Amino acid sequence: MALYLDSANLDEIKEAFSWGWVSGVTTNPALLGRSEVKPEERLKAIANLVDGEIFYQLMAETQEGMYLEAHRAREILGKKLVVKIPAVAPGFRACSRLAPEFACAMTAVFSPTQALLATEAGARYVIVYFNRAASLLGEADSLTTACAQVLADGLTELMAASIKSSADAVNAVKAGALHLTLPFEVLKALPENEHTRQSIIDFHQNGKGISYTEHS
Ligand code: E4P
Repeated sequence: MALYLDSANLDEIKEAFSWGWVSGVTTNPALLGRSEVKPEERLKAIANLVDGEIFYQLMAETQEGMYLEAHRAREILGKKLVVKIPAVAPGFRACSRLAPEFACAMTAVFSPTQALLATEAGARYVIVYFNRAASLLGEADSLTTACAQVLADGLTELMAASIKSSADAVNAVKAGALHLTLPFEVLKALPENEHTRQSIIDFHQNGKGISYTEHS
């Protein structure tokens, strides 16, 4: 199980990685498009901040274009790169070609058939779009479970993306996702619980602990 930050925002990435429990960063063209600088520059800056996997989503629409774009992405991100490939026909062909030397993730998955094909094409990850599936298909749990079932040999791991709340995160894992990628605000809210907060206030008001010195 690993948690990833879904963002290309440097302030968010810096803060999330200071928490110690975030494993990597997923980006997509929309997230990179929000930056005022070129994607190449933003990806380099992310690589300087992140000691972990960085997912870059290919924009090319042909197998050959995807192959070339993946090589260009590797020049920028090095071994941290995971190539995110849209789950369309040329994408599966590109995955087969890239998988021997690149970590590949088939993304925007909305059917177990795509998940099955991704594992046959050698993908390391399948990324199911959880909340979008809930909106577009009516619910996301059965899709996630079906994807997990077809990946049961463990060679390809299921990641849930398009997570909009803590409830989405828990439901995706309960349905079979092994990894999650979350937007900053959802990731930041995961530790929050009003009853925990109140319990700690009670301990502070009524209890005692050992003394210690904070180092600056
Ligand atoms: C995942 O890798 C994507 O970047 C992201 O989660 C897409 O979903 P959304 O656009 O619905 O948030």
